[in-house]
Amino acid sequence: MDKIRIHGGHPLSGSIKISGSKNSALPILAATLLTREPCIIHRVPDLSDTHYMLQILTHLGAQVERASGTVSVMAEKVDSVAPYDVVRKMRASVCVLGPLLGRCKEATVSLPGGCVIGDRPIDLHLKGFEALGAAVRVEGGNIKVFAPKLNGAVINLRGKFGPTVLGTDNVMMAAVLAEGITVIEGAAKEPEVVDLAHFLNKMGGKIEGAGTPRMIIEGVRELHGAEHDIIPDRIEAGTFLVAGAICGKGITVKRVEPAHVQAVMNALSSCGFRIESSPNSIAVAPNGLPTPLEIATEPYPGFPTDMQAQICALLSTTDGTSVVTENIFPQRYMHVAELKRMGARVQLDGPTAVIQGVDQLFGAPVMASDLRASAALVLAGLKADGITEVSRVYHIDRGYEHLDEKLGELGAHIERVKA
Ligand code: EPU
Repeated sequence: MDKIRIHGGHPLSGSIKISGSKNSALPILAATLLTREPCIIHRVPDLSDTHYMLQILTHLGAQVERASGTVSVMAEKVDSVAPYDVVRKMRASVCVLGPLLGRCKEATVSLPGGCVIGDRPIDLHLKGFEALGAAVRVEGGNIKVFAPKLNGAVINLRGKFGPTVLGTDNVMMAAVLAEGITVIEGAAKEPEVVDLAHFLNKMGGKIEGAGTPRMIIEGVRELHGAEHDIIPDRIEAGTFLVAGAICGKGITVKRVEPAHVQAVMNALSSCGFRIESSPNSIAVAPNGLPTPLEIATEPYPGFPTDMQAQICALLSTTDGTSVVTENIFPQRYMHVAELKRMGARVQLDGPTAVIQGVDQLFGAPVMASDLRASAALVLAGLKADGITEVSRVYHIDRGYEHLDEKLGELGAHIERVKA
């Protein structure tokens, strides 16, 4: 397995371009199953997760072509069964359930397995499908949903930990081809949900209210092909801003949508960094000594859970006591034990991390456990004294397009060590 080796302590400067959003691309690629006509999707990031999704589409019978960032999919005929072998590598495979149910009125998809960031149930997705008239069965590790006909319904998708992003996507993708009107209450407001709704509307869908907690979907008989540009990845942008903050002289992320990154910009401003944004770019620069922070993750537009690990890395070397509370995935703290191996002082109390900033982190061999935890370890390595080796790099390759190369362009001393 490849490793990423970082010689810490080299300041970052300059600018990089942000890639298309992983969490937008995955459901939008799945949505191409809703039509027999060709769809063309631009700015699909080159990640193992998007490759897995294209493999799933191919397995289901779609013709897929990829030329750099542009993917064409034509799903003239679709098989409705996605077995374990095809879906096991990625939890987001679950988002083919909605389009398959919408198009074929049945779908059998292997249940996603465990996940290090915590229990990841799909009860709300299934509740939504049932409200549309589908029967749901779990058989042999597979989830089977089927309905002679889907009918619009009023569905509340808000769960114990707030709205569900992929659940909202899934129900929207089934409801777009249901008969009548579906109202999703407690819908997720994330920009990726809005991007999917835009794409579905380009395909002939009739969806209103995306980006608000109440979405109204008027079912249509069929959808047609469409062309779409994936929005910039707000989590990649946030991760680079934290990289710039943790050891930057001043860096700029370009090709971003600043409104999507507002919560991260606010957090960095509260820590004392200077943040400047223009319509497509955001700059971060030091501005005296950073100050500690008290912050909690929330559904969009709050501070994203997908940035919690990275902000923990930053606060580990921020003088004073910071408090981070994880409200979406309360067990998402796999990075803490590894940060401690680098000298961080963090105490976990349930969903809360109390971080006592240290003067210096020290390079160490550390192990990536999930995508965002891995990013946090790379950020810590940039700041640390000495050499950090992050193993299990495949986690990073799932969700960051060429992270090591982009950090290298900003001046990081970072290399990929081939196994
Ligand atoms: N939940 C339920 N029941 C459900 C679905 C979710 O209780 O049926 C709970 C979850 O356990 C969690 C909360 O609801 O406590 C929110 O989970 P959500 O369903 O929104 O997560 P997701 O849609 O499976 C997406 C992103 C995650 C991101 C979360 C939260 C994709 C492919 N994944 O997951 O991204 O953390 O939303 O914003 O869009 C990542 O990119 O690293 C990543 C994990």
